Parts: sequence; structure tokens; C-alpha cells
Amino acid sequence: MTEQNRPLDVVILAAGQGTRMKSALPKVLHRVAGRPMVSWAVKAARELGAREIVVVTGHGAERVEQELAGSGVRFARQEQQLGTGHAFLQGAAALGSHGDADILVLYGDTPLLRTDTLAALIADHRQEASAFTILSGELEDATGYGRIIRGAADGVERIVEQKDATPEEAAVREFNSGVYVMDARAFGLAQRITNENRAGEYYLTDLLGLYRSEGAKAAAFKLDDADEVLGANDRLGLAELERIVQRRINEAHMRAGVSIPAPETVFIEDTVQLGRDVVIEPGVILRGQTRVADGVTLGAYSVVTDSVLAERVVVKAHSVLEGAAVGAGADVGPFARLRPGTELGEGVHIGNFVETKNARLDAGVKAGHLAYLGDVSIGAESNIGAGTIVANFDGVNKHPSRLGAGVFVGSNSTIIAPRVVGDAAFIAAGSAVHDDVPEGAMAVARGKQRNLDGWSRRYWGGLRAKVQVKLPWLAGWLDRQENQTADRQA
Ligand code: UD1
Ligand code: CA
Repeated sequence: MTEQNRPLDVVILAAGQGTRMKSALPKVLHRVAGRPMVSWAVKAARELGAREIVVVTGHGAERVEQELAGSGVRFARQEQQLGTGHAFLQGAAALGSHGDADILVLYGDTPLLRTDTLAALIADHRQEASAFTILSGELEDATGYGRIIRGAADGVERIVEQKDATPEEAAVREFNSGVYVMDARAFGLAQRITNENRAGEYYLTDLLGLYRSEGAKAAAFKLDDADEVLGANDRLGLAELERIVQRRINEAHMRAGVSIPAPETVFIEDTVQLGRDVVIEPGVILRGQTRVADGVTLGAYSVVTDSVLAERVVVKAHSVLEGAAVGAGADVGPFARLRPGTELGEGVHIGNFVETKNARLDAGVKAGHLAYLGDVSIGAESNIGAGTIVANFDGVNKHPSRLGAGVFVGSNSTIIAPRVVGDAAFIAAGSAVHDDVPEGAMAVARGKQRNLDGWSRRYWGGLRAKVQVKLPWLAGWLDRQENQTADRQA
């Protein structure tokens, strides 16, 4: 096997507590761009073609393992957090095979690291025939980080932890990111790490000295952008990571032909796909497996999750879509809610305060205002009046209904499921439809109207004294009524 295609195993350190998050949630499960921080490391490892990935868990181990279950990683429990060297040893011990792979070490709380950067680190490690390569960066003030002490030769001599640094060492701007790639000797050498230092911890950084004592070459590969290894220690740090990831994602979309006039207000998860000439208005949030075709407009403050939008769809402001498929040229909102199982055909019109769930609306259906359409299919070109409710739930079970094509549902009708309404049927406004409606029929299912003559005069007349004080207009009206009667009697 040549160096270039040696297998790569990855150990992700994620056992630390993260006290400053002040959270019941383990630190590495806090989300950045919708993805737990540790999943970003797993994703990068996958993209690098890792043979094996081991995640070292400790604080909140069960929850971390649960979150990553099914992602094809192994876990190594580090019961006591005795330091990064100890954590690495637990992880490396859990690898299926030893002695034939390069090992990459990542942290579970640095989600900004680009896969390209890691690929460059590994390529450099292999090209330089280095045994141990540190991913380093440079900062004006590297307080908190271990510092890279370069010797006379081109290699790295030592890494000095903040706590152990002399003033001269602390002034060094090159810092240790904590990411390393190492050759297959790492597992054996790591067993010789001791905790003889000021912190009484097992330092993974001691591996460097152990490699050097073997006469092996150690190097540092410097990041272009030190922000890539930013971690989050508290919620402020978390928000900063979010801001950086969102800027990256939004900029990539803008470069690919998406308009985002106020990108600092828009949140798009990295799983979302956008076509060209998509316009994303301020405040929009796009999540999960959402796919948006060319020419779609997403209106201000809309939230779209796991939905597929075809060409030229217009989602108007303040709409919420989840698990919906929207056909070409359809328009939705403002203030619409499309819930899972919604399928809208081409050119469908959904207006304000319309909720759909498990609903198939064929091409050209219009539901302009105030409706609930649940567990229903509606044929092409039907018109759903304002206030229509498909009453799908009987308190225990949901029932399906089917409306044909070209149906006209008058306003404020209730269609009591399960119901079948034939093509071209009419439903009179205000109906409570409790029987099926045949094709082409008109259903009128409401009380018959009675008009009681003179009712108002009798009613208000009985309240004369109060009407006089509180309802001057009605008092005037009563006076005129009484004068007319008097005139007629005269
Ligand atoms: C470590 C490095 C330091 C480097 C810094 C970069 C050592 C001794 N020092 O600092 O040179 O500049 O990272 O951030 O390695 N972890 C465990 N188990 C443990 C301890 C840590 O899993 O027992 C995990 C943490 O969850 C975290 C990572 O390892 O993801 C780093 O731990 P942290 O305590 O932040 O590292 P430092 O010692 O501060
Ligand atoms: Ca740290």
C-alpha cells in the first residue's frame, strides 16, 4: 500500500463537560446550523473517506451515543476525563485494527473545520512523510491554546500548554488547534503518556515528544483561517459559530445564483438545496431535506422544513411548510401552514390562514382564505371557499375524504369525513355536509332561513330606557318607526 492511499481512521474527542454552556444537554449536542456540533466532525470524517470513526464519549455519553446511533460510528467511553491523551487512548483502543492506518484526531466541538482543510492537512502529512502533523493556526493573541514551539530545524520541537508556558512561549502566536494526523505508531506511543505536569492530566500533546524520541518527524500545517478551529465554550460562542456557518452557507448560495438581500437574517441548513434565481427574503429559515427549484421566491419570515418546491413557486410572508411538496407555479400564503403529507399540484393557490395536512390538491385548486384541509384529496380546479373545514377527526380516528374535480365549496362549509364529493358538485355556503354528494349535484345542508317581521322594534322597544342612554342611533330609529305608525294611524 502506498502512503497516499493508506486507510484513515478518525478519533473524535467528545467526552468533555462544557460547564459554561449551563445546560442539561452535553456540549457537543448543541446545534450549529441545525446539526449537533459532534455531527459536523462525523460528517467531515465521512467526507474524508474514513475507514473507521470512533467517538470518545463521557459527559452525557448516553445522549451523545443515542444522537449518533445509526451513523456508523463506534463509541469509546471515557468514564473519567483525565485529559486529551487519556481520551485518545480510549478511542484508539476501540479501533478495529491497529498498525496500518493514519489516525486523524478531531474534537466534537469545532464544527467550522472544512473537509478541504483536513484533506490538505492529510495530504501535507503524507507528502512530507511526517509521522505526526499538527493542524496549527496563527492568532494575534493565542491565550488559552497550547503554543507551537518550532526548533532550529523545520520541524516542531514542542507544544507548550498555556499553564506551563514561560512569558516568551506565551508570546508565540502559532497555536495548537488540537487536530492532528499521526501514523500508525500513535496507539503504541500514547500508552507512554504520563500525567506529570502542572494540571495532572494526560496530555495528548506529549505524543509529539514521544514521536521525536523515536527519531520521527513532527510537523505543523498552518491554517489559512484560524476561525475554522473556533470552538464554543458558552452560548455566546455558540451564536458566533452559528453566525460564521450561516455566512458561509449563504455566501455559497449567493455565488451560485440565489438572491439573499439580508443574509445576516437568513438561516439555511447545509442539507438544503437551492436552484438558480431563488429569492430569499429577510428572516427566512430553511431546514432539513428541503429542495427548492429555480425561480422560487421565499417570502419574509417563512420557515420551510423537509419540503420540495418546484419551479417558480411563490411562498408569501410568514408561511410555515413542513414535509410538503409544492407544484410548479403554485403560490402559498401569506400566513399559510402546510403540514406533512401536503402535495400541491401546479398552479395551486393557497391563501392566508389555510392549513393543510395529508392533503393532495390537484392542479389549479384554490383555497384562498381560512380553511383546514386534512386527510383529503381534491381534484383539479376545485374552489374551496373561505372558512371550509374538512372535519377529519371523530375524537378517536382520522377519516379520509375525496372531492372530485371542479367542485365548488361555498364558504363556511364543514365536510364531515369520511366523505366523497363528485366532480363538478356544488356545496352551498354554510353547509354541514354529512352525506356524500353525487357528481354535478348541489348540496344544501343548513337550517332554512326564517325572517321574523318587526322583531327588532319589539325587542329594542322593551329596553327603551336603556336604549335611550346607551344606543342613541337605535333610539332615533325606534322614534321614526313609532312616528310612521302614528302617521299611518292618523
Ligand atoms: C487542548 C490542547 C491544546 C490546544 C487546545 C485546542 C492538550 C493537552 N491541549 O487544550 O494544546 O491548544 O486543545 O482547543 O491536549 N476531551 C475529552 N476527554 C478529556 C479531555 C478532553 O474527551 O479527558 C475532549 C474535550 O471534550 C474537547 C477536546 O478533548 O473536545 C479538548 O479538550 P479541552 O479540555 O478543551 O482541551 P485543552 O486541554 O484546553
Ligand atoms: Ca479547550
